[in-house]
This record gives sequence, structure tokens and C-alpha cells, in this order.
Amino acid sequence: MEYSNLLIHNNDGIITLTINRPKALNALNQQTLNEIKHFFENTKNDTSIKGIILTGAGEKSFIAGADIKEFLSLDQGSGTQMAQNGHDIFFLIERFPKPVIAAVNGFALGGGCELAMACHMRIASPNAKFGQPEVNLGIIPGYGGTQRLIQLIGKGKAIELLMTADMINAEEALRLGLVNHVVAQEELIEKSSKIIATIATKAPVAIAKIVECVNAYYNNEPDGFMAEIAAFGRTAGTADFQEGAAAFIEKRKANFKGA
Ligand code: CAA
Repeated sequence: MEYSNLLIHNNDGIITLTINRPKALNALNQQTLNEIKHFFENTKNDTSIKGIILTGAGEKSFIAGADIKEFLSLDQGSGTQMAQNGHDIFFLIERFPKPVIAAVNGFALGGGCELAMACHMRIASPNAKFGQPEVNLGIIPGYGGTQRLIQLIGKGKAIELLMTADMINAEEALRLGLVNHVVAQEELIEKSSKIIATIATKAPVAIAKIVECVNAYYNNEPDGFMAEIAAFGRTAGTADFQEGAAAFIEKRKANFKGA
């Protein structure tokens, strides 16, 4: 698939995926969502990839939400379909077996905040602004925002932001636990790359199982503790575990192979 709204840069297995619609503040239209879906479906099993950094083109906006210009024809049926499609894509990201980091370089509103929250971590620049302004339009977040905002910052503050449509800045997002770090805009990719490079030194099966177990905390099925027991067994059965334990005992660096 040729991407018209995504830019892809591969730096030794660390992929920077840039949503490239700066004139629309990188709003997520259906074409862009299709491209994101295609990208994550087609890279999920690529062992050469260490992780993904998701960001927005320009210096002003990460993603200013779903594309409101596509909203005029929405009704109950197509709205439900749109939300289901968004949920499927954002789950694909949340369940990605390698680290996915949102490098939030400006507005992360509506679907943009929701996409950042579906990523495993968020690194923000000082000009970042987060919010779920959907109630201003007469709708609610449709790409997982009502759930993931509670997961990240707790019910009390989440319901305030969802009801008021207030935006918060990067410092407040850091204080609330919505972002992991705040760094200068020009350091966003470097900081995100460093985190991914650290994770790339660990055993890939163990990292994939961490993603699975952390996500299981929020699902009823399977219970998170049961998921951890099974996943621990799975990692204990890998050659990488034998290598990791041997490397510790022999006082050397482990050389993991991903199996
Ligand atoms: N959809 C489509 N176009 C958008 C957009 C969006 N979400 N956000 C910004 N744009 C466009 C503007 O229409 C404008 O285009 P034109 O130059 O063609 O008019 C361009 O981007 C620049 O935007 P502004 O002139 O508005 O820039 P600003 O600096 O004055 O304001 C802003 C920036 C506060 C982010 C403002 O653009 C804004 O409020 N945007 C909408 C944010 C929003 O409501 N997002 C939620 C969408 S609903 C959603 O996401 C539902 C869901 O959960 C699935």
C-alpha cells in the first residue's frame, strides 16, 4: 500500500511513523486511519523492528482529533461503525508486541489524545496540549477515550476533563501520569529512541508478554493474574531465558535471539 498521509523513517529498526497532514493539524481522516491500520498489521511480525515512535508533522500539532470535516454525513449507524473501526485499530496498537511510543509534539485532542493513550508510553514536548473536546461537538470520544483516560489518570480527573472539554498542558499531563516524560520538542525522537533501544536489549518474547499481561489487567478475559502465570511459563520455556540466566551467572551481557 502506498501511504499518502504517513511518513516512515527507519533508523536501525526504530521506526518513526509521522502522521503527515499538517494543514489539518494532522487530523485523522478515514484514509489516514486505514493507512495506520495497514502499517501496524504489516509490521507486527517483523523481527527487524525494535519499536515504533508515532508523531505528527510540524511543530504545532500531534493530532488534533478525528477529521471533523468528515463528520457531516455521520448518523447513528455510521457513527457506531466509525467507532468500532477506530477501536479495532487502536487495540492493534495497544497490543503491538514491540514498544510503541507517542512523541506528542503539540495538540493531542480527541482522537489524537486517544491515539496517544493507545500507545504504550507518551513523551511530550512543553507545547503539548491534551484534551477530549468531543462534548463541544455534541458527541463523546469514540476511539477509547472514556476508558483509557480513566486507566491512566483515574476516574475523578478523567470525568472532569471529559465533561468540561478542558485542555491540559504537558506539565499537568506529567503530574497526572498521562505522559511519561516532558522534553524539548527537538529531543522528542531522541528520547523515545533511547527508550526503545533499551527495550531492544531485552528478550523479545518477554517484552511481548509484558504487553499482553499489562493489557490483561484491563480485560475481564483472561484475568490478568492468570495471564501472567501462563506468560511466565511461556518465557521460562524460551532459549532466551536460558541465555539470560547463563549470562547473569557468567557475568556477561545476554545475547537474545527472540525465541
Ligand atoms: N478536523 C479537521 N480539521 C481540523 C481539525 C480536526 N479535528 N482540527 C483542526 N483542523 C483544521 C482547521 O479546520 C484548520 O483548517 P483550515 O485552515 O482549512 O480552516 C486548520 O486545521 C488549522 O486549525 P485552526 O485554524 O483551528 O488552528 P488554531 O491554532 O486556531 O486552533 C485547535 C487549533 C485548538 C486545535 C483547533 O483547530 C481545534 O479546536 N480543533 C478541533 C479539535 C477537536 O475538536 N478535536 C476532536 C475531534 S472529534 C474526535 O476526535 C472524535 C473521536 O474521538 C473519534
